[in-house]
Amino acid sequence: MRKLADLSALPGGIARGFRARGGTVILVRHGNEVSAFRDACPHLGLDLAWNPDAYMDVDNEYIQCATHGALFEPTTGECVFGPCIGDRLGAVAIEIKDDAVWIDG
Ligand code: FES
Repeated sequence: MRKLADLSALPGGIARGFRARGGTVILVRHGNEVSAFRDACPHLGLDLAWNPDAYMDVDNEYIQCATHGALFEPTTGECVFGPCIGDRLGAVAIEIKDDAVWIDG
């Protein structure tokens, strides 16, 4: 396992990107839980953000594809608006221990 991020580096409800083997992993903290997704839209596979860590919509409510405006629910990764509605961001297996997020590899 490799440490991806300290929990203290993850603001509540706001997605952040971290480099990992196989590409960037998006982490979103919800209290003591963390969601982890591949930084790739399910319909074209594009990176979601224009700029590093610019993953959220203007209301900080959804993860947004900067290219097409698709919106993804930050706890499940489900697309709720846009061309891939009903699809989900690819989930990444993580483990939380010692106040940090860990990933295989
Ligand atoms: S690449 Fe799929 S909504 Fe932008």
